[in-house]
Amino acid sequence: MNILLTGAGGQIGADLVGALVAAGHRVVATDLRPQAAGQGATWRTLDVTDAAAVDAVIADERPDTVFHLAAILSASGERTPAQAYAVNQTGTWNLLEACRIHGVTRFIFTSTIAVYGPGLPDPCPDDVPLHPTTMYGVTKASGELLCEYYWKKHGLDCRGVRFPGLISAALPGGGSTDYALFMYVDGIRHGGYESFARADTRVPLMYMPDGVRALLELAAAPRPQLSRCVYNIAAFSPRADQIAASVARAVPGIRITYAPDPLRQGILDSWPRALDDRLARDDWGWRAAYSLDAMTDDLVPKVRALLDQRAGLAP
Ligand SMILES: NC(=O)c1ccc[n+]([C@@H]2O[C@H](COP(=O)([O-])OP(=O)(O)OC[C@H]3O[C@@H](n4cnc5c(N)ncnc54)[C@H](O)[C@@H]3O)[C@@H](O)[C@H]2O)c1
Repeated sequence: MNILLTGAGGQIGADLVGALVAAGHRVVATDLRPQAAGQGATWRTLDVTDAAAVDAVIADERPDTVFHLAAILSASGERTPAQAYAVNQTGTWNLLEACRIHGVTRFIFTSTIAVYGPGLPDPCPDDVPLHPTTMYGVTKASGELLCEYYWKKHGLDCRGVRFPGLISAALPGGGSTDYALFMYVDGIRHGGYESFARADTRVPLMYMPDGVRALLELAAAPRPQLSRCVYNIAAFSPRADQIAASVARAVPGIRITYAPDPLRQGILDSWPRALDDRLARDDWGWRAAYSLDAMTDDLVPKVRALLDQRAGLAP
């Protein structure tokens, strides 16, 4: 396939671009700034808030499939709501319009547990009233509705997942679930971490290899098997202190303490504690492979390698 990604320089793009190239696809990766490491893709600069630029790139590259990753995430979005609206809401509209105009076949959307609001069942199914408490959640809920609209009205085959908080060997980048990744990163580089989330915080999380595989499997699923556009996917939902225990098992002697930050704790408390992903399992055979401890065993050496590499690059 001929694939174009937006926001490809971020946490998911760092793993997804390589996976798409390895699967034999022609990949055009776009982001605000060009990337040094190409991973076998062609890189172009693209600001998704610029409708004319989005139209020009889609017209020029003629992708079959667009993976739309560009976004401002939850905690960052509360600090810059106008920017979150411009990137997440207008940017998604710009992409959908360009895909419609230029005959793109498939549009892959990356939604989030932030579309949910407080007081929902545990685990939370796909179809419940959506009352998000953040600009990020509002714009992602709207993006899901736009996907359904373009599918039903224009036949643009829109598909997406509601990701849990994703954890990978990367430096934390502005999401409210960053406390989990910081336990690994700061646990290894500083011997400890003061968590901005309470010890009993419990939200859905997933290891990145499962997240990338979910996108690849959903993108490849035959459309007649799909009963909807956007699906919950789930892996594990540990308490923060259970993550700390899992990290401590692999990195003995680390010290994790808790000093909740009201903004980010408020966001975390508004999300469901666990997701019901039955529909994704039934429709396209989704299954997470990694448990919390399996993730820890795989992740710790990768975080060590990332930190060593960055130390080597430091002046
Ligand atoms: N990482 C997670 O835990 C998680 C969870 C749920 C959903 N998601 C969704 O997955 C997608 C990718 O997430 P991520 O973790 O890679 O995020 P990220 O913040 O690491 O990357 C987002 C990328 O978007 C780019 N971007 C920002 N503004 C832009 C603009 N105006 N034009 C073009 N690019 C722009 C950034 O430069 C960045 O590289 C997002 O849509 C996010 O909402 C991520």
